[in-house]
Amino acid sequence: MSEASDPIFARIAARYDLINRVLSLGQERRWRSLGIDMLSPGTVLDLGCGTGATDFAGRTVVGLDPVIEMLVLSPVRDRVVGVGEALPFRDGAVDGVFSGFVFRNLTSIPETLEEIERVLRPGAAAVVVDLARPRNVLLRFVHRIGTAVILPLVGLVFARAPKEYWYLHRSLDSLPPPEQFFQGHTLIPERIWRMGLFGFVYGVRLRKPAS
Ligand SMILES: C[S@@+](CC[C@H](N)C(=O)[O-])C[C@H]1O[C@@H](n2cnc3c(N)ncnc32)[C@H](O)[C@@H]1O
Repeated sequence: MSEASDPIFARIAARYDLINRVLSLGQERRWRSLGIDMLSPGTVLDLGCGTGATDFAGRTVVGLDPVIEMLVLSPVRDRVVGVGEALPFRDGAVDGVFSGFVFRNLTSIPETLEEIERVLRPGAAAVVVDLARPRNVLLRFVHRIGTAVILPLVGLVFARAPKEYWYLHRSLDSLPPPEQFFQGHTLIPERIWRMGLFGFVYGVRLRKPAS
């Protein structure tokens, strides 16, 4: 295993699951499992697996994450240190890819999508779940004010890490809406859905063409 590549996640690893539960009011497991239900049975890559909090409902799982401090907390047996931009797997190796709350943190989304496409078997699907801003302009404004206050406060109280959760607030504005940025890649966005308060959580199912 190599050194942690992301100091933010290394610092909050021990408190990560607790803060997630608080911030999502206990909903984050449901948001992930709605996405998991859309994957085929077989071997699934959990890309950016963190502490391994996702329930894969009996599928075989390989967890991948660059941050050892997160990875060591995972109960999953097969764990790999690595990044989405350079997946250490052969072409067509997996029956599905899941990525929960990772995409805002990637160095390169196009490179990661290319890698996901490469490691998926033909015809298989990937599901990405992540946070974004609400689609409605007014709700987006209210949400932006809310996260600027609530996220650093919860980070301070539960992990003495206000700066790290200020980063989370900032990251919500780092990408265009998912309805735009999943277009134009080889993986086909078959379905995009919104969840959570004001629809600030999204899921997308991406299909690799069969041939
Ligand atoms: C918010 S956590 C999500 C963890 C887990 N997937 C979950 O649902 O709770 C984001 C994770 O993405 C990982 N990460 C950051 N950059 C990454 C990259 N380039 N490739 C893969 N994972 C990355 C971080 O180390 C961290 O564990």
